[in-house]
Amino acid sequence: MKAFQMTRFGLEHLQPVELPEPVPGAGDVLIRVHAASLNYRDLMLLRGHYDPKLHMPRIPLSDGAGEVVAVGKAVTRFRAGDRVAGLFFQNWQDGGPSSDKSRGALAGDLDGMLAQYVALPERGVVHFPDHLSYQEAATLPCAGLTAWRAIARASRIQPGDTVLVQGTGGVSIFALQFAKLAGARVLGTSSSDRKLERAKLLGLDAGLNYRERPDWSAWVKEQTGGIGADVVVEVGGAGTFSQSLQAVRVGGTVVQIGVLSQAEEKLSVVPLLMRQVQIAGIMVGSREMFEAMNRAISLHGLRPVIDREFPLQETRAAYQYMEGGQHFGKVVISLG
Ligand SMILES: NC(=O)c1ccc[n+]([C@@H]2O[C@H](COP(=O)([O-])OP(=O)(O)OC[C@H]3O[C@@H](n4cnc5c(N)ncnc54)[C@H](OP(=O)(O)O)[C@@H]3O)[C@@H](O)[C@H]2O)c1
Repeated sequence: MKAFQMTRFGLEHLQPVELPEPVPGAGDVLIRVHAASLNYRDLMLLRGHYDPKLHMPRIPLSDGAGEVVAVGKAVTRFRAGDRVAGLFFQNWQDGGPSSDKSRGALAGDLDGMLAQYVALPERGVVHFPDHLSYQEAATLPCAGLTAWRAIARASRIQPGDTVLVQGTGGVSIFALQFAKLAGARVLGTSSSDRKLERAKLLGLDAGLNYRERPDWSAWVKEQTGGIGADVVVEVGGAGTFSQSLQAVRVGGTVVQIGVLSQAEEKLSVVPLLMRQVQIAGIMVGSREMFEAMNRAISLHGLRPVIDREFPLQETRAAYQYMEGGQHFGKVVISLG
Protein backbone atom coordinates (compact mmCIF):
# COMPACT_ATOMS: atom_id res chain seq x y z
CA MET A 1 0.00 0.00 0.00
CA LYS A 2 1.01 3.63 -0.47
CA ALA A 3 1.72 5.75 2.58
CA PHE A 4 3.88 8.62 3.77
CA GLN A 5 6.41 8.30 6.55
CA MET A 6 8.49 10.75 8.54
CA THR A 7 11.97 9.32 8.80
CA ARG A 8 13.46 12.39 10.51
CA PHE A 9 12.21 15.88 11.34
CA GLY A 10 11.85 18.27 8.39
CA LEU A 11 9.72 18.34 5.24
CA GLU A 12 12.47 16.78 3.14
CA HIS A 13 12.24 13.67 5.34
CA LEU A 14 8.50 13.21 4.75
CA GLN A 15 8.68 10.45 2.16
CA PRO A 16 6.26 8.41 0.04
CA VAL A 17 6.70 4.70 0.85
CA GLU A 18 5.30 1.29 -0.13
CA LEU A 19 4.38 -0.73 2.99
CA PRO A 20 2.66 -4.07 3.51
CA GLU A 21 -1.08 -3.80 4.14
CA PRO A 22 -1.74 -4.18 7.89
CA VAL A 23 -3.45 -7.37 9.07
CA PRO A 24 -6.27 -6.70 11.57
CA GLY A 25 -6.12 -8.54 14.90
CA ALA A 26 -9.19 -10.15 16.48
CA GLY A 27 -10.42 -6.85 17.95
CA ASP A 28 -9.41 -4.62 15.02
CA VAL A 29 -11.09 -3.10 12.01
CA LEU A 30 -9.17 -2.69 8.76
CA ILE A 31 -9.94 0.69 7.19
CA ARG A 32 -9.34 1.72 3.60
CA VAL A 33 -8.51 5.36 4.23
CA HIS A 34 -10.11 7.75 1.71
CA ALA A 35 -9.03 11.07 3.21
CA ALA A 36 -6.86 12.56 5.93
CA SER A 37 -6.65 16.13 7.14
CA LEU A 38 -3.90 18.41 8.40
CA ASN A 39 -3.79 20.17 11.75
CA TYR A 40 -1.31 22.75 13.00
CA ARG A 41 -0.04 19.93 15.23
CA ASP A 42 1.18 18.11 12.12
CA LEU A 43 3.41 21.06 11.23
CA MET A 44 4.81 21.14 14.77
CA LEU A 45 5.32 17.37 14.71
CA LEU A 46 7.28 17.59 11.45
CA ARG A 47 9.42 20.43 12.81
CA GLY A 48 10.26 18.38 15.91
CA HIS A 49 8.53 20.94 18.15
CA TYR A 50 5.66 18.71 19.28
CA ASP A 51 7.50 15.60 20.42
CA PRO A 52 11.29 15.74 20.00
CA LYS A 53 11.41 12.05 21.03
CA LEU A 54 8.90 10.93 18.38
CA HIS A 55 9.46 7.32 17.33
CA MET A 56 10.64 7.14 13.69
CA PRO A 57 9.72 6.14 11.09
CA ARG A 58 6.22 7.40 11.80
CA ILE A 59 3.15 7.67 9.54
CA PRO A 60 1.81 11.21 10.12
CA LEU A 61 -1.66 12.80 10.43
CA SER A 62 -3.93 11.99 13.35
CA ASP A 63 -7.10 12.64 11.38
CA GLY A 64 -8.53 10.38 8.72
CA ALA A 65 -11.70 8.70 7.53
CA GLY A 66 -12.42 5.67 5.39
CA GLU A 67 -14.37 2.54 4.79
CA VAL A 68 -14.15 -0.64 6.86
CA VAL A 69 -12.98 -3.44 4.54
CA ALA A 70 -12.45 -6.25 7.09
CA VAL A 71 -13.07 -6.88 10.79
CA GLY A 72 -11.43 -9.23 13.30
CA LYS A 73 -13.58 -12.01 14.76
CA ALA A 74 -14.09 -10.30 18.13
CA VAL A 75 -15.38 -7.05 16.56
CA THR A 76 -19.04 -6.36 17.37
CA ARG A 77 -19.75 -2.72 16.47
CA PHE A 78 -18.50 -2.52 12.88
CA ARG A 79 -18.77 -4.46 9.66
CA ALA A 80 -17.38 -4.19 6.14
CA GLY A 81 -18.76 -1.16 4.33
CA ASP A 82 -19.15 1.03 7.42
CA ARG A 83 -17.86 4.61 7.05
CA VAL A 84 -15.65 5.52 9.97
CA ALA A 85 -13.13 7.99 11.36
CA GLY A 86 -10.29 7.28 13.78
CA LEU A 87 -10.25 8.62 17.34
CA PHE A 88 -7.35 10.99 18.10
CA PHE A 89 -6.85 9.44 21.58
CA GLN A 90 -7.36 5.75 20.90
CA ASN A 91 -7.72 4.94 24.62
CA TRP A 92 -10.03 7.78 25.74
CA GLN A 93 -13.51 6.33 25.62
CA ASP A 94 -15.44 8.48 28.09
CA GLY A 95 -15.23 10.41 31.36
CA GLY A 96 -12.60 13.02 32.13
CA PRO A 97 -9.00 13.03 30.93
CA SER A 98 -6.18 11.08 32.61
CA SER A 99 -2.57 10.36 31.75
CA ASP A 100 -3.51 6.81 30.67
CA LYS A 101 -6.28 8.05 28.39
CA SER A 102 -3.88 10.58 26.85
CA ARG A 103 -1.53 7.81 25.71
CA GLY A 104 -2.13 6.15 22.36
CA ALA A 105 -2.56 9.26 20.17
CA LEU A 106 -2.56 8.66 16.42
CA ALA A 107 0.48 10.17 14.70
CA GLY A 108 2.16 10.41 18.08
CA ASP A 109 2.56 7.26 20.15
CA LEU A 110 1.07 5.33 17.22
CA ASP A 111 1.22 5.59 13.45
CA GLY A 112 -1.25 8.02 11.89
CA MET A 113 -3.73 7.93 9.03
CA LEU A 114 -1.70 8.93 5.96
CA ALA A 115 -1.75 5.40 4.53
CA GLN A 116 -4.13 3.61 2.19
CA TYR A 117 -4.94 1.01 4.88
CA VAL A 118 -4.93 1.35 8.66
CA ALA A 119 -5.87 -1.26 11.29
CA LEU A 120 -7.30 0.15 14.51
CA PRO A 121 -8.95 -1.47 17.53
CA GLU A 122 -12.74 -1.06 17.33
CA ARG A 123 -12.67 1.14 20.42
CA GLY A 124 -10.52 3.59 18.45
CA VAL A 125 -13.02 4.11 15.63
CA VAL A 126 -16.37 5.94 15.31
CA HIS A 127 -19.08 6.00 12.64
CA PHE A 128 -19.44 9.47 11.14
CA PRO A 129 -22.60 11.32 10.03
CA ASP A 130 -24.22 9.96 6.85
CA HIS A 131 -24.39 13.30 5.04
CA LEU A 132 -20.61 13.84 5.21
CA SER A 133 -18.08 12.87 2.55
CA TYR A 134 -14.90 11.05 3.60
CA GLN A 135 -13.05 14.34 3.10
CA GLU A 136 -15.41 16.19 5.43
CA ALA A 137 -15.31 13.41 8.03
CA ALA A 138 -11.51 13.46 7.97
CA THR A 139 -11.61 16.95 9.52
CA LEU A 140 -13.47 15.85 12.65
CA PRO A 141 -11.12 13.85 14.93
CA CYS A 142 -8.87 16.68 16.15
CA ALA A 143 -10.07 20.12 14.98
CA GLY A 144 -13.77 19.29 15.03
CA LEU A 145 -13.75 17.50 18.36
CA THR A 146 -11.57 20.11 20.07
CA ALA A 147 -13.91 22.90 18.97
CA TRP A 148 -16.95 20.86 20.00
CA ARG A 149 -15.54 20.27 23.45
CA ALA A 150 -14.64 23.97 23.79
CA ILE A 151 -18.20 25.03 23.01
CA ALA A 152 -20.35 22.20 24.34
CA ARG A 153 -18.42 20.97 27.37
CA ALA A 154 -15.68 23.33 28.55
CA SER A 155 -17.74 26.50 28.51
CA ARG A 156 -21.45 25.61 28.69
CA ILE A 157 -22.51 28.39 26.36
CA GLN A 158 -26.10 29.61 26.63
CA PRO A 159 -28.15 31.05 23.75
CA GLY A 160 -27.42 34.77 23.54
CA ASP A 161 -23.91 34.47 24.97
CA THR A 162 -21.00 36.07 23.12
CA VAL A 163 -18.12 33.88 21.96
CA LEU A 164 -14.83 35.13 20.53
CA VAL A 165 -12.94 32.97 18.05
CA GLN A 166 -9.38 33.81 16.99
CA GLY A 167 -8.33 33.49 13.35
CA THR A 168 -9.97 31.36 10.69
CA GLY A 169 -8.06 28.07 10.93
CA GLY A 170 -9.50 24.60 11.42
CA VAL A 171 -10.40 24.78 15.12
CA SER A 172 -11.71 28.34 14.98
CA ILE A 173 -14.05 27.79 12.02
CA PHE A 174 -15.51 24.70 13.71
CA ALA A 175 -15.86 26.73 16.93
CA LEU A 176 -17.74 29.41 14.97
CA GLN A 177 -20.08 26.80 13.51
CA PHE A 178 -20.73 25.05 16.84
CA ALA A 179 -21.19 28.35 18.71
CA LYS A 180 -23.84 29.37 16.16
CA LEU A 181 -25.57 26.00 16.68
CA ALA A 182 -25.57 26.78 20.41
CA GLY A 183 -27.34 30.09 19.75
CA ALA A 184 -24.38 32.34 20.54
CA ARG A 185 -23.32 35.64 19.05
CA VAL A 186 -19.86 35.10 17.56
CA LEU A 187 -17.10 37.68 17.23
CA GLY A 188 -13.96 36.79 15.31
CA THR A 189 -10.50 38.07 14.47
CA SER A 190 -8.38 37.41 11.40
CA SER A 191 -5.32 38.72 9.60
CA SER A 192 -7.45 38.93 6.46
CA ASP A 193 -10.55 41.00 5.62
CA ARG A 194 -11.37 38.52 2.88
CA LYS A 195 -11.43 35.65 5.38
CA LEU A 196 -13.63 37.69 7.74
CA GLU A 197 -16.13 38.19 4.91
CA ARG A 198 -16.10 34.45 4.29
CA ALA A 199 -16.65 33.79 8.00
CA LYS A 200 -19.70 36.07 7.93
CA LEU A 201 -21.28 33.68 5.42
CA LEU A 202 -21.01 31.03 8.16
CA GLY A 203 -22.71 33.29 10.70
CA LEU A 204 -19.88 35.40 12.14
CA ASP A 205 -21.66 38.42 13.64
CA ALA A 206 -18.72 40.83 13.62
CA GLY A 207 -15.06 40.58 12.67
CA LEU A 208 -11.84 42.50 13.20
CA ASN A 209 -8.55 42.42 11.35
CA TYR A 210 -5.98 41.93 14.15
CA ARG A 211 -3.12 43.11 11.92
CA GLU A 212 -4.84 46.45 11.33
CA ARG A 213 -5.98 46.73 14.94
CA PRO A 214 -3.66 44.82 17.31
CA ASP A 215 -5.65 45.91 20.42
CA TRP A 216 -8.45 43.51 19.50
CA SER A 217 -9.45 43.01 23.17
CA ALA A 218 -10.58 46.66 23.28
CA TRP A 219 -12.70 45.98 20.19
CA VAL A 220 -14.31 42.98 21.92
CA LYS A 221 -15.19 45.28 24.85
CA GLU A 222 -16.69 47.82 22.43
CA GLN A 223 -18.77 45.08 20.84
CA THR A 224 -20.11 43.91 24.20
CA GLY A 225 -21.03 47.22 25.83
CA GLY A 226 -17.81 47.25 27.87
CA ILE A 227 -18.50 43.83 29.43
CA GLY A 228 -16.38 41.38 27.43
CA ALA A 229 -17.09 38.03 25.78
CA ASP A 230 -18.60 35.19 27.81
CA VAL A 231 -16.18 32.75 26.21
CA VAL A 232 -12.86 33.14 24.41
CA VAL A 233 -11.77 30.18 22.29
CA GLU A 234 -8.01 30.72 22.69
CA VAL A 235 -5.86 29.35 19.87
CA GLY A 236 -3.25 32.12 19.76
CA GLY A 237 -1.41 30.94 22.88
CA ALA A 238 1.21 33.00 24.69
CA GLY A 239 0.99 35.91 22.22
CA THR A 240 -2.76 36.38 22.64
CA PHE A 241 -3.43 35.07 26.16
CA SER A 242 -3.00 38.43 27.95
CA GLN A 243 -5.49 40.10 25.63
CA SER A 244 -7.85 37.14 25.98
CA LEU A 245 -7.91 37.83 29.73
CA GLN A 246 -8.91 41.41 28.90
CA ALA A 247 -11.45 40.38 26.27
CA VAL A 248 -13.39 37.94 28.48
CA ARG A 249 -16.09 39.20 30.85
CA VAL A 250 -15.71 39.03 34.63
CA GLY A 251 -16.52 35.42 35.52
CA GLY A 252 -16.20 34.30 31.88
CA THR A 253 -14.24 31.39 30.42
CA VAL A 254 -11.07 31.23 28.36
CA VAL A 255 -10.80 27.83 26.70
CA GLN A 256 -7.06 27.39 26.17
CA ILE A 257 -6.40 25.33 23.07
CA GLY A 258 -3.56 26.64 20.96
CA VAL A 259 0.04 27.75 20.86
CA LEU A 260 0.20 29.71 17.61
CA SER A 261 2.17 32.73 18.82
CA GLN A 262 4.85 33.80 21.29
CA ALA A 263 4.47 36.37 24.08
CA GLU A 264 6.10 39.76 23.56
CA GLU A 265 5.55 40.89 27.13
CA LYS A 266 5.44 39.27 30.55
CA LEU A 267 2.16 37.70 31.54
CA SER A 268 0.45 39.30 34.53
CA VAL A 269 -1.68 36.88 36.54
CA VAL A 270 -3.56 39.76 38.21
CA PRO A 271 -6.38 39.90 35.60
CA LEU A 272 -7.01 36.22 36.28
CA LEU A 273 -8.14 36.94 39.83
CA MET A 274 -9.51 40.43 39.33
CA ARG A 275 -11.70 39.23 36.46
CA GLN A 276 -12.33 35.84 38.11
CA VAL A 277 -11.70 34.05 34.83
CA GLN A 278 -12.13 30.31 34.42
CA ILE A 279 -9.28 28.88 32.36
CA ALA A 280 -10.14 25.55 30.78
CA GLY A 281 -7.14 23.89 29.17
CA ILE A 282 -8.38 21.20 26.80
CA MET A 283 -6.81 18.56 24.59
CA VAL A 284 -9.10 17.07 21.92
CA GLY A 285 -11.66 14.73 23.57
CA SER A 286 -13.11 11.28 24.11
CA ARG A 287 -15.13 8.83 22.02
CA GLU A 288 -18.26 9.80 23.96
CA MET A 289 -17.70 13.48 23.04
CA PHE A 290 -17.04 12.54 19.39
CA GLU A 291 -20.35 10.65 19.26
CA ALA A 292 -22.20 13.59 20.88
CA MET A 293 -20.64 15.94 18.30
CA ASN A 294 -21.72 13.62 15.48
CA ARG A 295 -25.33 13.69 16.71
CA ALA A 296 -25.31 17.50 16.59
CA ILE A 297 -23.65 17.53 13.16
CA SER A 298 -26.26 15.08 11.82
CA LEU A 299 -29.22 16.88 13.37
CA HIS A 300 -28.19 20.25 11.95
CA GLY A 301 -26.72 19.01 8.67
CA LEU A 302 -23.51 20.87 9.55
CA ARG A 303 -20.74 20.65 6.95
CA PRO A 304 -17.07 21.08 7.84
CA VAL A 305 -15.33 23.79 5.82
CA ILE A 306 -12.64 22.44 3.51
CA ASP A 307 -10.40 25.07 2.00
CA ARG A 308 -8.38 22.85 -0.31
CA GLU A 309 -7.90 19.21 -1.15
CA PHE A 310 -4.59 17.67 -2.30
CA PRO A 311 -3.96 14.20 -3.75
CA LEU A 312 -1.72 11.85 -1.72
CA GLN A 313 1.28 12.36 -3.99
CA GLU A 314 1.14 16.12 -3.25
CA THR A 315 1.36 15.66 0.52
CA ARG A 316 4.40 17.90 0.86
CA ALA A 317 2.61 20.67 -1.06
CA ALA A 318 -0.32 20.32 1.36
CA TYR A 319 2.02 20.85 4.32
CA GLN A 320 3.57 23.88 2.61
CA TYR A 321 0.14 25.32 1.84
CA MET A 322 -0.92 24.92 5.48
CA GLU A 323 2.32 26.48 6.67
CA GLY A 324 1.69 29.50 4.40
CA GLY A 325 -1.42 30.30 6.47
CA GLN A 326 -3.62 31.16 3.49
CA HIS A 327 -6.20 28.52 4.37
CA PHE A 328 -9.68 29.10 5.75
CA GLY A 329 -10.89 26.04 7.67
CA LYS A 330 -9.32 22.71 6.77
CA VAL A 331 -6.73 21.31 4.38
CA VAL A 332 -7.41 17.73 3.27
CA ILE A 333 -5.41 15.00 1.53
CA SER A 334 -7.41 12.53 -0.58
CA LEU A 335 -6.11 8.99 -0.90
CA GLY A 336 -8.40 8.10 -3.82
N1 LIG B 1 -5.53 21.53 22.56
C1 LIG B 1 -5.95 20.82 21.54
O1 LIG B 1 -6.54 19.75 21.70
C2 LIG B 1 -5.74 21.32 20.16
C3 LIG B 1 -6.44 20.73 19.09
C4 LIG B 1 -6.30 21.30 17.82
C5 LIG B 1 -5.47 22.39 17.65
N2 LIG B 1 -4.78 22.90 18.70
C6 LIG B 1 -3.94 24.07 18.56
O2 LIG B 1 -4.79 25.15 18.18
C7 LIG B 1 -4.10 26.01 17.30
C8 LIG B 1 -4.88 26.13 16.00
O3 LIG B 1 -4.82 24.88 15.35
P1 LIG B 1 -5.46 24.71 13.90
O4 LIG B 1 -5.15 23.32 13.48
O5 LIG B 1 -6.85 25.20 13.87
O6 LIG B 1 -4.51 25.71 13.09
P2 LIG B 1 -4.66 26.30 11.65
O7 LIG B 1 -5.78 25.68 10.91
O8 LIG B 1 -3.31 26.29 11.03
O9 LIG B 1 -5.06 27.81 11.95
C9 LIG B 1 -4.13 28.82 12.05
C10 LIG B 1 -4.85 30.17 11.93
O10 LIG B 1 -4.84 30.81 13.20
C11 LIG B 1 -4.82 32.19 13.03
N3 LIG B 1 -3.76 32.81 13.83
C12 LIG B 1 -2.43 32.60 13.77
N4 LIG B 1 -1.80 33.39 14.65
C13 LIG B 1 -2.75 34.11 15.27
C14 LIG B 1 -2.76 35.12 16.26
N5 LIG B 1 -1.62 35.56 16.81
N6 LIG B 1 -3.95 35.63 16.65
C15 LIG B 1 -5.09 35.20 16.12
N7 LIG B 1 -5.18 34.25 15.15
C16 LIG B 1 -4.01 33.73 14.75
C17 LIG B 1 -4.62 32.48 11.55
O11 LIG B 1 -5.92 32.82 11.03
P3 LIG B 1 -6.08 34.05 10.01
O12 LIG B 1 -5.39 33.63 8.77
O13 LIG B 1 -7.55 34.22 9.88
O14 LIG B 1 -5.42 35.24 10.65
C18 LIG B 1 -4.14 31.13 11.02
O15 LIG B 1 -4.51 30.93 9.68
C19 LIG B 1 -2.70 25.44 17.16
O16 LIG B 1 -1.84 26.04 18.10
C20 LIG B 1 -2.89 23.98 17.48
O17 LIG B 1 -1.72 23.39 17.96
C21 LIG B 1 -4.89 22.38 19.94
